[in-house]
Amino acid sequence: MSPTDHTETDTDATETRTATATDDFTVTPYAVEGEIDYEKLIDRFGADRLTDEQVARFPDHPLLRRRTFYAGRDVDSYLEAAEADAPHAIVTGRGPSGTMHLGHVLPLYLAKRLQQETGATVYIPLSDDEKFLAKAQSFAEIGHHTRENLRDILAVGFDPDRTRLIIDTVDADVIYPLAVRLATYLTPATVEAVYGEQDTVGLQFYPAVQATHLLLPQLVGGRQPTLVPIAVDQDPHVRVCRDIAAKEALPVEKPGALLGRFLPSLEGPGKMSSSADAPSIELAAAPETVAETIRTHAYTGGRATIEEHRERGGDPSVDVPFQYLRFFFEPDDAELERIAADYRSGDLLSGELKEIAIDRITTFLAAHQRRRAVLGELATEIQPYRLTDAERQQALERAGVPSVLE
Ligand code: TRP
Repeated sequence: MSPTDHTETDTDATETRTATATDDFTVTPYAVEGEIDYEKLIDRFGADRLTDEQVARFPDHPLLRRRTFYAGRDVDSYLEAAEADAPHAIVTGRGPSGTMHLGHVLPLYLAKRLQQETGATVYIPLSDDEKFLAKAQSFAEIGHHTRENLRDILAVGFDPDRTRLIIDTVDADVIYPLAVRLATYLTPATVEAVYGEQDTVGLQFYPAVQATHLLLPQLVGGRQPTLVPIAVDQDPHVRVCRDIAAKEALPVEKPGALLGRFLPSLEGPGKMSSSADAPSIELAAAPETVAETIRTHAYTGGRATIEEHRERGGDPSVDVPFQYLRFFFEPDDAELERIAADYRSGDLLSGELKEIAIDRITTFLAAHQRRRAVLGELATEIQPYRLTDAERQQALERAGVPSVLE
């Protein structure tokens, strides 16, 4: 069966389009290569550009206002629910294969903001199973990263009454039966077409697990618009889940998506990755380390000499410290524009622009690190964020897989 050979024909006919590179870049959950053309990508994936009107309806946030999140799926139904004070949810997960850096935490801070403004329920699954299968790491190593990542997620400061943290191997009592149920609609051909060839049957099954994550708020809390704010490379998971949701007789609507660009790597455009060679800024980094990393590694849009820079000015559009300010770290539009204008005119030097970015990023990290440092035992801290027994039962019942011994 071909991946596009599914029952839906109208609005989502393009959703399972393959990830195969027809242009000179590749974007799948397991490989990001080449220079990404973000506009082409949403056409390739069949997603919609965010409109000015949609952005204006969201709570104001630089990641939206400046279009780091630039595309989506079914954004209107989420906005309608948020505006009507009706239930609405966000799912934003983490693959715990290493320490978290700046790029990982931005969607979490956006989710927190949306939760504060409109009361969104936020689900944050940690796919330790996926990372065990995808990376050459033991369960002990993945477990270590999972615990450390959880502390960073807790430090963001979500409302425990409206937030659930899920760990695939720990919450397997609910995740596994649901994933099995969803897996009946996932063929090897679909998995291969969407994700590329997988090394093991484990990774072939994993999309059923991530589809479970995306439907979980509805299985626990009832049918409601669900928005998944993620970097574009994760969109295939959303498409697969939407196809499954359309075929399964489940009391859920298809999850929507908010698709984001990658925070640029310090050494230039592309994906900021903790596993690649390019240095990245870890959430735990000390201020001196942040300063040193940016001073020595950040790609700038400055000129070769000070004289030339003063005369011809710099280019903020390729300058990584400026891009960091624009993504998140300088929320004030007027201030950002002033910095850009001074840079273009040559009044502001690359070194000075770097210092502004260092100042903003270290201030942000200091607050994050303070909140992290006061956390107690993980097992205690996470308790108010775990699914309750009633919620677990509810999800299994809604999916038609009631517990055997109840
Ligand atoms: N697969 C994602 C990654 O590798 C992590 C993840 C798991 C996720 N479940 C999710 C992301 C649900 C968004 C929504 O980073």
